[in-house]
Amino acid sequence: MKLLITGGAGFIGSNFVLYMLQQHPEYEIVNVDALTYAGNLENLKAIEQNPKHTFVKADICDAAKMDELIGQGVDIVVNFAAESHVDRSILEPDVFVKTNVLGTQVLLDAAKKHNVTKFVQVSTDEVYGTLGETGLFTEETPLTPNSPYSASKAGGDLLVRAYHETFGLPVNITRCSNNYGPYQFPEKLIPLIISKALNDQPLPVYGDGLNIRDWLYVEDHCSAIDLVIHEGVNGEVYNIGGNNERTNLHIIRTILEQLGKPESLITYVQDRPGHDRRYGIDPAKITNELGWKPKHNFETGIRETIAWYLDNKEWWTRIQSGEYEQYYAQQYGERLGESQ
Ligand code: NAD
Ligand code: TYD
Repeated sequence: MKLLITGGAGFIGSNFVLYMLQQHPEYEIVNVDALTYAGNLENLKAIEQNPKHTFVKADICDAAKMDELIGQGVDIVVNFAAESHVDRSILEPDVFVKTNVLGTQVLLDAAKKHNVTKFVQVSTDEVYGTLGETGLFTEETPLTPNSPYSASKAGGDLLVRAYHETFGLPVNITRCSNNYGPYQFPEKLIPLIISKALNDQPLPVYGDGLNIRDWLYVEDHCSAIDLVIHEGVNGEVYNIGGNNERTNLHIIRTILEQLGKPESLITYVQDRPGHDRRYGIDPAKITNELGWKPKHNFETGIRETIAWYLDNKEWWTRIQSGEYEQYYAQQYGERLGESQ
């Protein structure tokens, strides 16, 4: 079995590549990533010598390259590559449309041409917009995205659906809630708060801090995607979430308590424009139809995550100093005849 995984140097993608090589050591993985600011080859150090893993630096919008790679006997495409940070999408929407919409369509074309047996689009619950105090997102919830990020992800999802309906491409779309765990770029809430608290810096809380997210440990997301690849019914959407709704303030206080840092670091700042109030996933479909069950609850997951960031301080300090971006040139530059 040969998989093409895009965005495999990012947070969830790198966790997924590591997970799949452990679960299915016989699978061959081609890992395609453009290495934007969010891509970090240091996430993949453990498998540098693994002959089943090949890294290719490429943009998913490069149609000729995607055609070439998928044409080399790829069975399954899993698309993680995306611009993923809501705050950046408010500042710079165009690159979100390019990667998340156009990039998805380029991959779909190559997947269709080469008759892949499965195309999995890794999407987000944010395409459903925001919830009030009650109710949960189901797969039937209408798409009402509120940020340029979620709008671009919804655009990608609709193209995936259309390639199934129009061309019979065997697809699945997964929509997951907020992930956390090892290798998350420290611009997202949990690693940002851990790293700032460890440096005794102010912790920026948007608005009143009472927005709710439904947190899922990244390994549980990986196990769900593995299941969808193998058992997902073509054309179906699967929501993924672990029933762990927490306010942002709850998250921040939990981290402060576990690190032994004072609440006086909490600093309220101006709210994010269009800030969704609440996300909550109903995971009944993937639970009942595919038998998926998360292994971590929030309490165990956050403890493991904090321990990881404490043990891997060098990983995130190299991101903060920008040093991680030199790793590609050191590792691959000479071999590929590149000078960057
Ligand atoms: P991330 O930003 O950490 O990683 C994205 C990766 O994609 C990076 O390695 C980046 O270099 C690569 N990339 C970006 N543009 C590219 C392009 N044009 N061509 C090739 N590679 C490109 O993101 P993440 O948090 O790992 O999210 C992965 C996927 O999961 C995304 O599709 C995101 O929408 C989705 N998702 C994320 C969450 C979450 O909580 N992080 C939740 C649900 C869904
Ligand atoms: P984030 O990690 O950016 O994920 P998303 O916006 O995709 O859910 O943010 C999670 C929540 O934390 C969201 O409600 C915004 C809030 N937040 C802050 O309060 N301060 C911050 O510095 C960041 C990055 C996020």
